[in-house]
Amino acid sequence: MNRLSKALPSPLTTTPLATQPLYLSATDAVTLVRRLGLKHCIEGMAQHIRADFLRWPDFDKSARVAHHSQVGVIELMPISDDTAYSFKYVNGHPQNTAIGLPTVMAFGVLADVATGLPTLVSELTLTTALRTAATSALAAQNLARPNSRVMALIGNGAQSEFQALAFQHLQGINTLRLFDIDPLATTKLVANLSHSGLKLQVCASTAEAVQGADIVTTVTADKACATIVTADMLEPGMHINAVGGDCPGKTELAADVLEMSKVFVEFTPQTRIEGDIQQMPADFAVTELWEVLRGTRPGRDSDTQITVFDSVGFALEDFAALRFMHSAALKLGLGERLALIPQMVDPKNLFGTLLTSSRCTAASAQLSE
Ligand SMILES: NC(=O)c1ccc[n+]([C@@H]2O[C@H](COP(=O)([O-])OP(=O)(O)OC[C@H]3O[C@@H](n4cnc5c(N)ncnc54)[C@H](O)[C@@H]3O)[C@@H](O)[C@H]2O)c1
Repeated sequence: MNRLSKALPSPLTTTPLATQPLYLSATDAVTLVRRLGLKHCIEGMAQHIRADFLRWPDFDKSARVAHHSQVGVIELMPISDDTAYSFKYVNGHPQNTAIGLPTVMAFGVLADVATGLPTLVSELTLTTALRTAATSALAAQNLARPNSRVMALIGNGAQSEFQALAFQHLQGINTLRLFDIDPLATTKLVANLSHSGLKLQVCASTAEAVQGADIVTTVTADKACATIVTADMLEPGMHINAVGGDCPGKTELAADVLEMSKVFVEFTPQTRIEGDIQQMPADFAVTELWEVLRGTRPGRDSDTQITVFDSVGFALEDFAALRFMHSAALKLGLGERLALIPQMVDPKNLFGTLLTSSRCTAASAQLSE
């Protein structure tokens, strides 16, 4: 055996497992939330989201990339700062529930900017519900009247309980006025939240549910230019948390609701395409949430003003949620290392990973001749 064949190692190694990304499955995410408690997770996510919104200029931001079909949308949501990069894959297919699939399904990746190495591959379906609710409640903490206690919840599907509990824990909501065109969805919500301490009032229409509410959350799914909340339903001082209008041709608020309100958004270029303000002129005035959180622009101007959070979901919220889930999973020892990246002693010898160990030896021998 000559010097060179000795020097050529087998291209594969199994040792640096810690450099492989952590994989957090849907089951792991459920375990994580059960062990930490939903309240703790919503609060933790809201803190992470707030912290990241406060350093808004640090992020390389873009509107998400959306691929539309007749029945739904599939979107990619990338964002990064100097140290970490994330993206989320998410869909929106309102007709899915009729065939036993969720309307919204998601997964995502967190990666190290310095090397490009993925550090986390995670489910994001449950995480999206948590982060959306945390973002909505964070916005309401800063935009709704502080003494808001009654919330109308229109649309009682997959996201709805998370919205309800985030508003209970972060905003002090104690009464929910519920409406869904599918009564079974409301029955499910009532059963799920029967021990929550929230007072649950089932209503016969959106108009009835909105009556007397301090906050109105719309979280419906319908690929249509819907007008679920109309101007005649508004009462002075209401805060509207519009979550379901998040795609071109998919709205929940009538245009005059927006005209009568002060409107807040996540990332203006994305919301102009996807939010309820897609109905409005390109120069329709909006305030970005991060500006209110940083105190550079005012939120609500008076107790009688109507405020709207035109939520569409921004990549920054998933970045923050992924960071929260990653550190919580590491602390709890949840998830497993995913053999995603080929492990090589010589990182230039990717081809060597295709060779069997005997061929590897032969190749080494050939090289040494
Ligand atoms: N803004 C965000 O960040 C964000 C994040 C996640 C989901 N979403 C959106 O939230 C919406 C709800 O998502 P989901 O996962 O709960 O969907 P889902 O399909 O589980 O539930 C939606 C519910 O809305 C009801 N609904 C439809 N039209 C209605 C109407 N006119 N009046 C009352 N109820 C109506 C349906 O019957 C259903 O029960 C979707 O549109 C989704 O795209 C937004």
